[in-house]
Amino acid sequence: MTISRTATSWWRNAAIYQVYPRSFQDSNGDGEGDLQGVISRLDYLKELGVDAIWLSPFYRSPNKDGGYDVSDPRDVDPRFGNMKDAEDLIEAAHSRGLRVIVDIVPNHFSTEHRWFKEALKSKPGSAERARFHFYDGRGEKGEIPPNNWNSIFGGSAWSRIIEENGNPGQWYLHLFDSTQADLNWNNDEVRDDFEKTLRFWLDKGVDGFRIDVAHGLAKEEILADHRNPEGLSRALRLDVRDMPQDERESLLADVPFFDREGVHEIYRAWRKIFDSYSGDRMSVAEAWVHPSSRATRYVRGDELHQIFNFDFLIAEWNAEFLKNAIDKTLGEVSEVSAPPTWVLCNHDSPRLVSRLGGGERGARKARAMALLTQALPGGIYIYQGEELGLEDADLPDEARQDPVFFRTHGADKGRDGARVPLPWQEGKSFGFSTGKPWLPMPEHWIGLDVASQEETSESSLNLYRTSLRIRTSHPALQMSHTDDVSQSIEWLDSPTGILVFRRNPNFVLISNTTDQSCTYDIEGELLLASSPEVTYLRGTFTIPAHTTCWINTIH
Ligand code: GLC
Repeated sequence: MTISRTATSWWRNAAIYQVYPRSFQDSNGDGEGDLQGVISRLDYLKELGVDAIWLSPFYRSPNKDGGYDVSDPRDVDPRFGNMKDAEDLIEAAHSRGLRVIVDIVPNHFSTEHRWFKEALKSKPGSAERARFHFYDGRGEKGEIPPNNWNSIFGGSAWSRIIEENGNPGQWYLHLFDSTQADLNWNNDEVRDDFEKTLRFWLDKGVDGFRIDVAHGLAKEEILADHRNPEGLSRALRLDVRDMPQDERESLLADVPFFDREGVHEIYRAWRKIFDSYSGDRMSVAEAWVHPSSRATRYVRGDELHQIFNFDFLIAEWNAEFLKNAIDKTLGEVSEVSAPPTWVLCNHDSPRLVSRLGGGERGARKARAMALLTQALPGGIYIYQGEELGLEDADLPDEARQDPVFFRTHGADKGRDGARVPLPWQEGKSFGFSTGKPWLPMPEHWIGLDVASQEETSESSLNLYRTSLRIRTSHPALQMSHTDDVSQSIEWLDSPTGILVFRRNPNFVLISNTTDQSCTYDIEGELLLASSPEVTYLRGTFTIPAHTTCWINTIH
């Protein structure tokens, strides 16, 4: 049966919750989360009010990059459980009306994958090596890498192998860690194998895929040097915050290994596979492309369904910036029939509260930004712990595991701070594990755990529960396939630093991004506010600093 975009496509307006399984819930006391742990917390997710979960990789992996180094994409890593657990999880989620999206990592395989091991044992030029990017080095003895590209995680993007005869030999490309060998997508075997993986998980009932590094599969000019390889690799990392924006943009304008034309035929082929299954299966691309207008190319009618919009992932709590980002996004996606998406944080970026300055002030801004985001048309992605208002944890260097930390020799701390396990209740390891959590959990998280927040009516968790409920029930916050998203919000006049928009019928949002309280005249009743002090008197709302409110209007 062919599924096309219909008014009922569940993903157009969905709230999708990212589960990073290693840090969600441990069920066997080994200090790492697992699939049975996720199953045991599905009721929590149902009650939160999300439509779907996206599971970061749980496939067989030596875990050099948090499971994004896959050694068998059609098997479950024993650290997470087994295939039966994965099947049970899909079924248990479906029985609660939750959809399941899984990750697929097509840019690279772990060097522990059977194919890479075969390549090491084979000769230069062999079919086994042709699945990856193996080249001879430059210099008299081939001792210089084939080009000067840097890994996005730091250091060279090439590693040299020892040939079967014991001598140093060819080099292979790895845009990420040296244990993540880039695959050669000009090779039909690679294409066939990934199509097999898609079908494998579709047959198991998953509702969609999050496509890792979706813009990276096709490479061009693979032997040409880059003018600033070090700058380029830092410009590409979301956790690097100290690079001037104009420098970043100039470097990102043309990346020889990202966003090449060749990726689109791959997704056109994948789309045919998704459409050949019943049940409205979907795909969302992690494709950080520049300028962002190019992102719409991934969601043309015969390609993927959604692409992450990372504008809010780097946004400050600043009215002008946010309004521009919203207008740009809505304008861009209205040219293709895809809905917009909004992402505030993920496992690769600082947590929202930390990004907005941390502490009570950061938390307040984060709640205000969440309500702004959730009132926009399209899909939203919530990273586990975002609903709790967690901050990045301060970790001692000896606890760090991210390859970014090691490959930059500690110059960049990496992403572990945002990956600390979730606090569920007070007590040992906050209920995450009966063992020692794989990353230390900050003691000062007391009170931020789920159980404590459930007891506190004004907690971040309760705010998310209420907002997600209103988001699915208020008629103005729905979206059908016929809606022109560029027309879906109407900006109303407002003073500098205040954002006000209307969505029909009867919904108005006011975000006060300033340090002072503001007033706004409108007839209506307060539906929800990100902080408790909003007041309403005879047609005037008074909104304190750094607060968003949702209003049900009379007209
Ligand atoms: C994606 C993942 C990130 C991983 C990288 C390499 O960006 O989100 O966690 O390190 O790909 O697979």
